[in-house]
Amino acid sequence: MDTAKVTIDPAFRIGPADRRLFGSFVEHMGRCVYGGVFEPGHPTADPLGLRGDVLALTRELGVSVVRYPGGNFVSGYRWEDGIGPTGDRPRRLDLAWKSVETNAFGLDEFMVWARAAGVEPMMAVNLGTRGVQEACDLLEYANHPGGTHLSDLRRKHGAEDPYDIRLWCLGNELDGPWQVGHKTADEYGRLAAETARAMKMVDPRVSLVACGSSNRGMPTFAAWEATVLEHTYEHVDYISAHTYYDPTDGDRASILASAVDMDAFITEVVATADQVAAKQRRTRRLKISFDEWNVWYQQGLPADLDRDWAEAPALIEDTFTATDAVVVGDLLITLLRHADRVGVACQAQLANVIAPIRTVTGGPAWRQSIFHPFALTARHARGTVLRTEPTGPSHDTARYGRVPSVDTVAVHDEETGALAVFAVNRGDTDIQLQLDLRALPGLVAHEHLSIAAGDATNTAETPDRVTPRPLSPPTAGLVRLEAASWNLIRFAHPHEER
Ligand code: AHR
Repeated sequence: MDTAKVTIDPAFRIGPADRRLFGSFVEHMGRCVYGGVFEPGHPTADPLGLRGDVLALTRELGVSVVRYPGGNFVSGYRWEDGIGPTGDRPRRLDLAWKSVETNAFGLDEFMVWARAAGVEPMMAVNLGTRGVQEACDLLEYANHPGGTHLSDLRRKHGAEDPYDIRLWCLGNELDGPWQVGHKTADEYGRLAAETARAMKMVDPRVSLVACGSSNRGMPTFAAWEATVLEHTYEHVDYISAHTYYDPTDGDRASILASAVDMDAFITEVVATADQVAAKQRRTRRLKISFDEWNVWYQQGLPADLDRDWAEAPALIEDTFTATDAVVVGDLLITLLRHADRVGVACQAQLANVIAPIRTVTGGPAWRQSIFHPFALTARHARGTVLRTEPTGPSHDTARYGRVPSVDTVAVHDEETGALAVFAVNRGDTDIQLQLDLRALPGLVAHEHLSIAAGDATNTAETPDRVTPRPLSPPTAGLVRLEAASWNLIRFAHPHEER
């Protein structure tokens, strides 16, 4: 069997494992909202219509931040359509998803949901068809204490206290030709800068995200970020990144190596942002908001959109395999490894739409395969992320060339002494991983959970076919990583095992 080695030392600090790395995304798209988080009349729904089963799974998933209301949807959205008496809300065409938006769910419902789920809201403003004024109006409605038309309207709608939403996205994917209101980098950069300046006048405590590229393969990638940041650097706190990895072509070696691409993407966005900082003589460093990432079988999208206008049609309800769970686990390892420069990350999306949680309208909700690595990472990546540099075998992939077979990250909880090691074997043979823990004496492994790649999926009928498998905890720091598997190995001091 091949061997790999990694040294884990508390001196190799990257930064705190920020809870905001475990974010998710609720878009008015398909059945994410309607039939997902919100379904009046569902047996588990509360009087407002919030599905209790989805809320419970959201809490179990360990989601920290939830981005709302889009996505492509936000670029044609009028936020004020979604407030006030439900019966008075207009039905509108949603151009992004060729759907009819009823507006039965809006900001006020989302905030009740976010509180019940225990998540921080992250709002996006429409910079596709709208601009500075509408963004400021929305912020005033949400965050101003009272005594103005919009803040008093919020109070009239039942929210006496301001929502105090701190995280705001300045539009969505405006670099993409598919986006309603698509812009050049200069057009967007100017608008984002002006919107940011005005929003900070309304509420200086907000943190703002400028749109980066929709993915690393965009023809404008890097030039877009450079131009947008030339305009916005002093006004914003984050630059966004989005990426989806498509397993449709069946090239398992490549899809398992997707994190190699995400890693390079992060490195390149950081370099681009730092170059603008250097040029503008700025010492403040921006972080990345990786506010859309996931696996997505994209071949289904054109057929999904080739339909008549419908309310909440089932869109891109991908059923994920165990292999996809291994990929998601590795993408989380990558986000953690960049915890010094990635400040927010949102898996897209939360329910039904390429989501860890699936539902049947009027029926059950269940955990997809990708739910498990997310939930376990969110639960156990607590403390300080430690840099690990595994040495060991590598293998060839069609998409990314030769890649290291083993990817790892470690998170050390300095308070309890607990250590969580996340490790993926991307190759197709078992590998013996040797952990050098001499810098953390006295730790004992008490849990090893693993998900091995494969075609198995979780469905309404078989919701637990893919779950993490407990393996014997390793002794002497020797961990067997099964071929193509995601692994969590937890260590603690013997008196503190849990
Ligand atoms: O998450 C699905 C869509 O993917 C989002 O609406 C958009 O921002 C991205 O292209």
